[in-house]
Amino acid sequence: MRTPQSGIFALGTSSHAYLEFDLQPGANPRDLVTAMAGLREPRTTIGGINLVSGFRPELWRAVASDGIPRDFVGFNEDIRGAEGYVMPATQHDAVLWLSGSAYDVVFDESRQAIAALAGVAPVADETSSWPYRHDRDLTGFIDGTENPSLLEAPAVLLVPEGTPGAGGTILLLQKWVHDSTRWESLDVAAQERVVGRRKADSVELDPQPPDSHVARTDQQVFGQIFRRNMPYGTVTNHGTVFVGFSAEQRRLTKMLDSMAGVNGGIRDALTHYTRPLTGAFYFIPSVEALGQFAAEDPTNGR
Ligand code: HEM
Repeated sequence: MRTPQSGIFALGTSSHAYLEFDLQPGANPRDLVTAMAGLREPRTTIGGINLVSGFRPELWRAVASDGIPRDFVGFNEDIRGAEGYVMPATQHDAVLWLSGSAYDVVFDESRQAIAALAGVAPVADETSSWPYRHDRDLTGFIDGTENPSLLEAPAVLLVPEGTPGAGGTILLLQKWVHDSTRWESLDVAAQERVVGRRKADSVELDPQPPDSHVARTDQQVFGQIFRRNMPYGTVTNHGTVFVGFSAEQRRLTKMLDSMAGVNGGIRDALTHYTRPLTGAFYFIPSVEALGQFAAEDPTNGR
């Protein structure tokens, strides 16, 4: 039985950083994987931080060819939907998601990780995030209501034993900026029709508007995913970091297509108030699969 990276399930942490890296031109992908695997070693680990490491699917496949679902690809092309709507592809080579109880430790550990990877992969993008009113996103709605419980989540998001990439998972990371002025010009009933749930208690609307966010991402249609979304940003510029995991990429891409209204579909009403700035898929290997590379590090244990 492969062990999933535990930070995926570490609910309740109040401070997060998402760091995305690009391989230095001419650098060897294996060196990046080795350096990332080395971050787990005690010499670079500060207590109390969860670290989740992931790789562009094509990069991980280059170093571990049978260690990833065969049909899994990066977010390599923009998604074009209804009314000229575009979800941009901003794929990078690797991601680190750090989370902890306070920003100072996340900050220190992030800087240490960036320094450790600097020779092989500089930072391409970074976002810090924090919870808003316990479990709400910055629309003011409860986010995560239809998430599987922690007991159910592994079956939803882990690549099954006996298949390539077992114990790993597929991450969709997408940063969405909110148009808060536009959103707040709607009254609560109109906001509820956009989301498809009541604002106060997250009860699902019945009937469900066909263009509501809940209707466009209905897990009974597309399959289950596990979300760890977080608010990000400043008072004047903010939104949602969508952090979604699944054992199958198809569930996530079908949801994105559905939200964008690809192929003449209905566009998700929420996309009139929020706009994706980034979009990338990463493979999050099991602890054992990543650990194999740490053992290669010639400086290991010094
Ligand atoms: C600005 C970005 C987004 C915001 C603010 C947002 C917010 C929400 C909220 C408030 C709910 C209702 C409560 C819940 O069940 O969690 C919800 C449901 C959901 N969202 Fe999103 N979401 C965003 C983007 C996305 C994206 C990009 C996807 C998929 C790729 C997605 C997938 C889902 C799913 C699967 C559900 C549950 C649907 C069901 O009832 O089965 N969301 N989201």
